[in-house]
Amino acid sequence: MSDVHILGFAGSLRKASTNRGLLRAAAEDAPDGVVVETFDLIDIPLYNSDVDVAGRPEAVTHLQTRIADADALLVSTPEYNGSYSGVLKNAVDWASRSFDRPVFAEKAVAVMGSGGRMGTARAQIALRQLLIGQGCYVLPRPVVQVPIMGTKFSPEGDLEDPELRHAIRGLVESLARLARRLRPD
Ligand code: FNR
Repeated sequence: MSDVHILGFAGSLRKASTNRGLLRAAAEDAPDGVVVETFDLIDIPLYNSDVDVAGRPEAVTHLQTRIADADALLVSTPEYNGSYSGVLKNAVDWASRSFDRPVFAEKAVAVMGSGGRMGTARAQIALRQLLIGQGCYVLPRPVVQVPIMGTKFSPEGDLEDPELRHAIRGLVESLARLARRLRPD
């Protein structure tokens, strides 16, 4: 059986982002047969339909291709004012402008997140809604919600909590299983 390719992106752009750290943990601890790569959203400009019509930026077409080619997506969100970040909404808005090849349709997706006291619980509910609206199959569980306080991260944002790393590995395993089920024969 061929490997399952998962593309991850984080909704926080800062270098020492704990959400970037969750994605690194997912990639480092990925089970056999599963490859987790990340796409950095830092080069995605703010959506502007004038720019879209004049010629889509290369970073955006790259994002669309990477999403379309992935077997599954893993999105790690911070919680900003009770929801996911504008960085994520902007990326989804750009990526959704792909009418010849809808990149999100029937895509297996898992969400996780780090932030706040409730570990991004509200952000994840809103993010699921957004992704379901795009036609994604969003994994219902396991739930990975990481409150920043009380969780061990290095100053660089690396996750140093073995139990949480185990939970993320479980999430990746479940996502890979869903992606395999959705693979065309
Ligand atoms: C926050 N934060 C935050 N936390 C929370 O629990 N509820 C909230 O509503 C908000 N709102 C909020 C707004 C803005 C503009 C910022 C910058 C931050 C804290 C936030 O959840 C936390 O900083 C990030 O989740 C950390 O993620 P990274 O950057 O480490 O990936």
